[in-house]
Amino acid sequence: MPDPDKARAFEAMDRLLVTGATGFLGGAIAAQLLQEGRIEETLLLVRAATPAEGLQRIAERLRLFGVAEDIIATLSERNVLLGDLANFPAADPRLQQVTAVINCAAVASFGDHPRIWSTNVDHTLAFARQASVWPGLRRFLHVGTAMSCGMQAPSPVPEDYDAGDKAEHVVSYTESKAAVEARMRSELPDLPLVVARPSIVVGHTRLGCKPSPSIFWVFRMGLAMRMFLCAPEDRIDVIPVDYCASALLALARKPVLKYDRYHIAAGEAGSCNFREIESGIAEALGVPPMDDYRQVGMEEISALQPRFQELFGRCIPWMMLRAIELYGGFASLDMIFANSHLLAEGIAPPPRFTDYIANCALTAAGGTIAEQMMVDFK
Ligand SMILES: NC(=O)c1ccc[n+]([C@@H]2O[C@H](COP(=O)([O-])OP(=O)(O)OC[C@H]3O[C@@H](n4cnc5c(N)ncnc54)[C@H](OP(=O)(O)O)[C@@H]3O)[C@@H](O)[C@H]2O)c1
Repeated sequence: MPDPDKARAFEAMDRLLVTGATGFLGGAIAAQLLQEGRIEETLLLVRAATPAEGLQRIAERLRLFGVAEDIIATLSERNVLLGDLANFPAADPRLQQVTAVINCAAVASFGDHPRIWSTNVDHTLAFARQASVWPGLRRFLHVGTAMSCGMQAPSPVPEDYDAGDKAEHVVSYTESKAAVEARMRSELPDLPLVVARPSIVVGHTRLGCKPSPSIFWVFRMGLAMRMFLCAPEDRIDVIPVDYCASALLALARKPVLKYDRYHIAAGEAGSCNFREIESGIAEALGVPPMDDYRQVGMEEISALQPRFQELFGRCIPWMMLRAIELYGGFASLDMIFANSHLLAEGIAPPPRFTDYIANCALTAAGGTIAEQMMVDFK
């Protein structure tokens, strides 16, 4: 059952609207709210034909987060706001009481999804414009992405770094996230906007990859091929989803914040290098350590195509190559993100990836790399 002491501790908390609760990050936030017994004051925007179906969709995601059935049962149709960013139910009277928004909804795909720009820019902006007139709104916490800084940013990337129009993006997803931030700032001066940009969200500290295998398949690839695009010393800024959810809730709840943009990131102190990551996975799975690991280019990986089915499971080789090029390219940027703004709010730093990587390795082992990759190319 929800913990009544925790519930009392948050008695004065605001009425939250969370978008994207059927997804990875939004689902982690909903799971935490339920486990705190604080779901009553929360509205969850969900796409469904009926409130019952909406509830069902959220419950499915909560089960992946190991939320017990009696706790899921505390969620009701009163928590469901049926709708879409593209067709937002602005006339719902409950919105008049909303004091804080955590906006996780987005098309978070490295693929060529046809709705990336319309969802992440046009419809997000329209939603934020509607929120800006709600009488009680005191914070609109928009979830961006740290990679919206572009490829040439200095590392560690400062929280207030802004490459503006000059940023070079490899995928339209990161470009769309940069564009909507800039447009919200310039076009909606009355919106109480705070942007939280997570770095790379991988796994859950306790549940590993059960809630989602997103991005972990990239690290599995290195181990499977015993070669990859990263140098062993390249650092990668990874945080677990439960840490990210707690940090977002803390930013949504704090009455006053010192800054208007935050990285939710491991930073210099908490980032691991590729060697540590691959060794952690090898150790958890009991396979030979990565002493023979080689950093290679795309040609050498491409030459391995005849073995892709054996290494990655049933797959379309050109798609695997494209995924390696994109995600491996990002991983080998050696880019980490300063988290000093977050720490200045009194939010604890995240655990290191290697502290919970064994849980990720063991829970991901049941599926093929190719299957798990599709989560990020929906
Ligand atoms: N995961 C990461 O590593 C990471 C890192 C940095 C930043 N982020 C950011 O975190 C946010 C959440 O990412 P995620 O990994 O949780 O993504 P996700 O698992 O793909 O979830 C996306 C969520 O957005 C919802 N959504 C998509 N289009 C919508 C629309 N038009 N109207 C209403 N809801 C819509 C989806 O609903 P349906 O279920 O109905 O499709 C789903 O609930 C994104 O803004 C992303 O840019 C993620």
